[in-house]
Amino acid sequence: MILILMGVSGCGKTTVGQKLAAQLGLPFQDADNFHPKANIEKMKAGISLTDEDRLPWLNDLAANIRKWEQTGGAVLACSALKESYRKILQCVPQITWIFLDGSRDIILKRLQNRKAHFMTSTLLDSQLETLEKPDYGLHFDIALNPDQIVQEILIKMNQMKSTSEFGLIGLGVMGKSLALNLADKNVTVSVYNRHIPGKEEEIAGKFIADNPSFKNLKGFDKLEDFVQSLEKPRKILLMIYAGAVDSQIEELIPFLEANDVIIDGGNSFYKDTSLRAQLLEHINIHFLGTGISGGEEGARKGPSIMPGGSSKAYISVSKYLDLISAKDKNGKACSSYIGSGGAGHFVKMVHNGIEYAEMQALSEVYFLMLNFLKLSAKEISEILKTWQSDDTGSYLLEITIDILQKKEGDGLLLDQILDQAEQKGTGGLSVTAALEYGVPYSSLSEAVMARFLSALKEKRVRAANLYARENIIPPANSEEFISRLRNAYQAVRIINHDIGFNLMRQASDHHQWQLNFSEIARIWSNGCIIRSELMEELVEVFKTAETILCSTHIVPKMKTWQHDLSYCTAQGLQNGFALPVLSAALNYFLSYTTAESGANLIQAQRDYFGAHTYQRKDQPAGQYFHTQWKSQTDD
Ligand code: 6PG
Repeated sequence: MILILMGVSGCGKTTVGQKLAAQLGLPFQDADNFHPKANIEKMKAGISLTDEDRLPWLNDLAANIRKWEQTGGAVLACSALKESYRKILQCVPQITWIFLDGSRDIILKRLQNRKAHFMTSTLLDSQLETLEKPDYGLHFDIALNPDQIVQEILIKMNQMKSTSEFGLIGLGVMGKSLALNLADKNVTVSVYNRHIPGKEEEIAGKFIADNPSFKNLKGFDKLEDFVQSLEKPRKILLMIYAGAVDSQIEELIPFLEANDVIIDGGNSFYKDTSLRAQLLEHINIHFLGTGISGGEEGARKGPSIMPGGSSKAYISVSKYLDLISAKDKNGKACSSYIGSGGAGHFVKMVHNGIEYAEMQALSEVYFLMLNFLKLSAKEISEILKTWQSDDTGSYLLEITIDILQKKEGDGLLLDQILDQAEQKGTGGLSVTAALEYGVPYSSLSEAVMARFLSALKEKRVRAANLYARENIIPPANSEEFISRLRNAYQAVRIINHDIGFNLMRQASDHHQWQLNFSEIARIWSNGCIIRSELMEELVEVFKTAETILCSTHIVPKMKTWQHDLSYCTAQGLQNGFALPVLSAALNYFLSYTTAESGANLIQAQRDYFGAHTYQRKDQPAGQYFHTQWKSQTDD
């Protein structure tokens, strides 16, 4: 146990610290005794210490804190005026900060009564100016006498022992898994689930009863009790349906206090998140819109986490997010601060846009293998296994292989599943964002449209009868087609990712989020639904390249694979198979790599019928021209 009493000189750190240490049976340490001689001389002469003067002193204290922790703990009195100083001292996880705060007058009186101390009262104003009050830890007013303060500290510490470090609201599949994940990491967690008669009754209690081995979990179905059970500043993770976030926040507000942090871990729309953060900031409550990807298993074992919003609030919860997240290949947490406002939820939304396109691409590959190459599910899964074992591997490919092997009775479960793809909406929201920012979103929007088209089951059945497919001519060399299809699939995936990251880049510029794309790829390299070998490669790609398609890592591959993508797509379309994502990705690639396009004709047409004007190749950009296209005599 390390307790640090902090505050300006004269606030009573030493007196309170000595009494507290005696009560707790811990050694007392005074940081003043660790100052190098030069610092003491400076202070005696009434000269304020600089950051450089303090650095060796703070580092020495940090080294000692580590030692004291090993030997059972200590109570340390140290001014620790700035957050950067406290960061150096926060070198062990369990530090209790005790801030002694008070008026300048009281402190000044105390300093003037002091004898035999190097600190002069003239330094007080400079100390008060330097002081950055912490918004965490235990705060006490020095108007109380030292014995009273010690008693208050002991009471608060007892209360803290029985409070939980972290709160979670919403015990759906994801909420339960994340609560267990936190509890597994020895975090004390309070969970709350609303009470809806006949629908959601005693959910929290049942959850606790179902998990008796976790003594660090507490369940509540009364919101006020839940909030009171949390250590301050409170950290509350909402794992609820996006449509219920506002009403949940409204219910919470009366019980919250300044500096409490709400983390929205659902799939909320990023603009709502940004607005909520602004509104809550007015009442000093911090809001972190946080994308969490990985489904039930990810939430339990380690998801990828995309927190956005107040960077200050992020610091107070980052320890917990890092603990529960997946780890990358170097053991680093797949959780990283994304940016201000709605940045975290925006990035998660684009993750889902890519997720939709990756799923649709796999569905098209599967469909071609099944119906064009006439392969069985078993044969397809065997081929996909070989892809999975090399650099084509991904989580979505891995689960596809499992799905293709899942039997029901004598048949395949997949064959019994209705071919109508549903959606909760994040893919569609990313299309709306692409339209708003003017970013081409070809294959990612096609994946959303493909789900809508699939939903028209009855209409499709009727139309299929009218337009029966004839003359399917399977490729002469099936093996060669499979090998080219693998390359085509790789090419589509690169294009899908390029499109998704381009949308993030545009939004980042617009909102000044300064997104770090290599870091985003890194936190997506494990835990999330679109984790893959390609994602690992993108971590490196974004260290040097602006865009994926123009990266020197990618160009040589795409030069070959684009031909396979053209070939397989053409073959599939020619034989009557819908390939919305494969063909949209190919069209995107071909358009993107065409220097002189036919768009000049569109500009001419616009000017012709609407006098919308056009720019010329032979004139500086930004100058607009209009032509009277029909000569007067034509009339
Ligand atoms: C994830 C997923 C998840 C998503 C569901 C369902 O990253 O863990 O993206 O957040 O909500 O998979 O999404 P749809 O219902 O829209 O397919």
